[in-house]
Amino acid sequence: MSAASPRRRRRLVPAAAIALACFGLGLGAGALMPPAEGWPLVAGTEVAVATPTAGSSATPDPAASSLAAITAGAVPVEDRTPEIQVTTLDLDDPASFTVVVNKVRPLDPLDYVPADVVTLDAVPGGGTMRAEAAAAMTALYEAAAAEGAGFTVSTAYRSYDLQSSLHAGYSRSRGYDAADRFSARAGYSEHQTGLAADIRADGCDLEPCFADTAAGRYVAEHGWEHGFIVRYPADKEEVTGYIYEPWHLRYVGRPLAKAMRDSGAATMEEHFGLAFAPDYEP
Ligand code: DAL
Ligand code: ZN
Repeated sequence: MSAASPRRRRRLVPAAAIALACFGLGLGAGALMPPAEGWPLVAGTEVAVATPTAGSSATPDPAASSLAAITAGAVPVEDRTPEIQVTTLDLDDPASFTVVVNKVRPLDPLDYVPADVVTLDAVPGGGTMRAEAAAAMTALYEAAAAEGAGFTVSTAYRSYDLQSSLHAGYSRSRGYDAADRFSARAGYSEHQTGLAADIRADGCDLEPCFADTAAGRYVAEHGWEHGFIVRYPADKEEVTGYIYEPWHLRYVGRPLAKAMRDSGAATMEEHFGLAFAPDYEP
């Protein structure tokens, strides 16, 4: 099956803003080159959204690939030149570490399959994630375990078909509307990107009690250090479309995870100024 998702206006965010917030280069906003048209931008540590101007290309800045290197930690902080910082975050490409997926932002294509999924060999429970996310999850697990806050992976990458089966199963057991509050429809799940994982500890498997476990507290406090956010925070169902899921970690890369921590934005939607996604579009 090849499923195309509805087109939406492309949202591009200059990583320069995040880089300034993240890496402490000692550059003030005024030290940046004048922003290209359609860039926003830096207000303190806030990261604003770049809205491409009419006629602007939907193709990311040629320097965008450098973001992956930064995110992967391949570029030491001291070697990150302003030119490397001035790049573009892609919120739409399902292969982007910063893709925003929610009930109004389906994957494009709906049946997207990540190319570089690997097994989580060193994390109890296993599962698979994209290679960089898997390395980060392994590092997070090892750091947590060293503090007596180890956890087990419940599920991580899920294919379109698996997500479809899960949602169908929850719909049968709990009702369709109830299922929609905690289970994404196929083509709308972060798990399908290979960048999300559900983790469990102390008998709290996909339950709010996970937040009160040592592991739950550890990942909420330290997840950003490894590039993860708790994607569905408490009391944000009107924003994310989902109930509190302290167990659902999303890899966004350390630069963005730190920028969100610094900005105080609890969700990607709020951080990037995107439309809230309480429900699917009719
Ligand atoms: N539990 C999250 C929303 C998912 O199914 O992707
Ligand atoms: Zn999840």
